[in-house]
Amino acid sequence: MTDQVKELVSKCLQARDKAYCPYSRFPVGAAVLTADGAIITGCNVENASYGLTVCAERTAIQRAVVEGHRQFRAIAVTCDIKDRFVGPCGACRQVLLEFGSDWTVYLTKPDGSYKETSLNELLPLAFSPSHLAKN
Ligand code: THU
Repeated sequence: MTDQVKELVSKCLQARDKAYCPYSRFPVGAAVLTADGAIITGCNVENASYGLTVCAERTAIQRAVVEGHRQFRAIAVTCDIKDRFVGPCGACRQVLLEFGSDWTVYLTKPDGSYKETSLNELLPLAFSPSHLAKN
């Protein structure tokens, strides 16, 4: 594991501890690695009006964009499930795709072990910003 991946994985685990999830009690953490090497984290933030909940991945992306980042290399995501690797929900996959399709995705277990995959693999044949370009 490179030091950068180690840090990304560790930051997503730390972010999971900040999750605000009183309704589901299902904490999720995410950490995105920007093209210039910054790491921005996110956790899920739930709401009494359940549909207003924001996933960890989207919280991280939104924070990153506010900080001026639009180019990303990787994201690490984690939850409390110990016995399998869990991927981002479909909505979050689409939100990640807004910023490119060749992201590396590290599906991370609570013990820090991870499975490396890619957004291309997680969201094949996707609808992307390029489809809105005029021909
Ligand atoms: N959740 C995420 O944060 N990311 C996902 O990709 C899947 C689901 C959150 C939303 C909600 O707070 C809780 O997990 C249960 O669905």
